[in-house]
Amino acid sequence: MPETTKDQVLQGLAAEIRSCVRCPLHLSRKNAVPGEGPSDASLVIVGEAPGRNEDEQGRPFVGAAGRNLDDLLSEAGVSRDSVFITNSVKCRPPGNRRPARSELDTCHPYLRRQIEAIVPRVIVLLGDAALKEFFPESSLGQAHGKPVKRGPTLFFPTYHPASVIYNPSLKEVLSEDFRKLGALVRDGTV
Ligand code: URA
Repeated sequence: MPETTKDQVLQGLAAEIRSCVRCPLHLSRKNAVPGEGPSDASLVIVGEAPGRNEDEQGRPFVGAAGRNLDDLLSEAGVSRDSVFITNSVKCRPPGNRRPARSELDTCHPYLRRQIEAIVPRVIVLLGDAALKEFFPESSLGQAHGKPVKRGPTLFFPTYHPASVIYNPSLKEVLSEDFRKLGALVRDGTV
């Protein structure tokens, strides 16, 4: 797909997402958070759901988890500007609770359509919710840091950057996963 067309598809999707009323999360949101990044990104990052800062600003990963993500990306040698960042659910669940299965399922077509437009080489899945969107039977403890090729796409599951806030022992595990991701992206075999 030519870049202008990809841009148009992503912009159209973002407009749909901002006015979406398909699930009850629209009732409490300030802003839906469609995601952001270049339409020709070779790497897409999928988080769980917007938090308070993201809901205020309508942008993904701009709060504490976002700062952790920025640090991890720089450890990987990947520039944030080069990746498309989005979430499994595009509206903030009240009180930052985990998104319900029905909310994830209702929102999934937006994620699928974003990925179909971008056609990235690599999709990084941050945390259990994102992992289960693509690999419902997998568990993060087993799957993290292990790339899985499906069709032309390499999926790379890892822990959510916010998990370090509650469990500092995961910091080194996440750093190691992101260094591995950086090496995979750089060696060009994916
Ligand atoms: N956590 C997420 O999963 N996504 C965000 O955008 C912010 C925090």
